Amino acid sequence: MNCPQQDCWPEPITRVQSLSESGLPCIPERYVKPPSERPSSSNKMDGCDDPEDNIPLIDLGGLLGGKDEELKRQTMDQISVACREWGFFQVVNHGVRPELMTQALEDWRQFFKLPVEEKQVYANSPRTYEGYGSRLGIEKGAILDWNDYFYLHYLPRSLKDPNKWPALPLSGREVIEEYSFEVVKLCGKLMKILSVNLGLEEGYLQRAFGGEETGACMRVNFYPKCPQPDLTLGLSSHSDPGGMTLLLPDASVPGLQVRRDERHWVTIKPSPHAFIVNIGDQIQVLSNAEYKSVEHRVIVNSGTERISIAFFYNPRGDLVLEPAKELVSEDRPALYQPMTFNEYRTYIRTSGPRGKSQVESLKSPR
Ligand code: OGA
Ligand code: NI
Repeated sequence: MNCPQQDCWPEPITRVQSLSESGLPCIPERYVKPPSERPSSSNKMDGCDDPEDNIPLIDLGGLLGGKDEELKRQTMDQISVACREWGFFQVVNHGVRPELMTQALEDWRQFFKLPVEEKQVYANSPRTYEGYGSRLGIEKGAILDWNDYFYLHYLPRSLKDPNKWPALPLSGREVIEEYSFEVVKLCGKLMKILSVNLGLEEGYLQRAFGGEETGACMRVNFYPKCPQPDLTLGLSSHSDPGGMTLLLPDASVPGLQVRRDERHWVTIKPSPHAFIVNIGDQIQVLSNAEYKSVEHRVIVNSGTERISIAFFYNPRGDLVLEPAKELVSEDRPALYQPMTFNEYRTYIRTSGPRGKSQVESLKSPR
């Protein structure tokens, strides 16, 4: 397997934001997707107005704070159904302050508004991906996505280095710290809920992720305006390689699409101050595919830029993960071979986003 442990990208990096601001009428060839991958090759707009066609919206209020046992059971059931049928759901009343969410989005907007030279100080490399980046994958000549991003580590503590986080805007590092702290807390609660729903002991998933050594990182996506949005994607189809993702999108601009079947994508309508939760490949593996990590992608548009904060809650890199013994039986043998997350994520970091090809390739030979 190719290895991303190198300091240089295979080609000079172009900032998508700079391309967008240059006012080009056409996008450069290397952002043009093959016809089968373009947004218009599916029902981009069909069903958009159909309120049925959205991921479940779940109110966590009763579960996290209340005493109503019946309500708690109902909420647990809603989450169970969402994990099985969608792999994606939105949560409200999740305990993270709405002002903090708004502030985090606003600070990151300010960061991306800085002149490119100031952001360039944080330019990343494929060795760790930490910092300001504009591509995922190191294949020379690859077709690229229409986004810039900032990637940073929050956990484990040994990887956290706030000096690598943006110094501007001034409140930025503090807000990243508080936001990450709160989102990690929420992830911990969700891990318990998922464990119980899977019929496992409450602490199972957290332990499998490495307990105190669980990983957490943030990828802030910036999708500039695009003069030819029908030819490209902000982020190509992929499933998240880690454990679980909590996404905070800019609720005013649609962009995220979740795969429903071979030809259909559902455009998510974000609720105000909701997090979009999705199952990653590692929970698919641990749950022996009771829960699936579902493919998703991002479309762009010509009128408005879009920002999103993806928070990835991941297993510690050097632990071997495999399907929970409790979920393996003669009728349902282990579907995946054991692997560490470090080994696993080399694939996306080398090849870039490629649908669900990786977790499928882990399937045990029969
Ligand atoms: C991601 C992702 C979706 C979005 O960063 O993995 O899927 O809406 N982002 O930006
Ligand atoms: Ni994703």
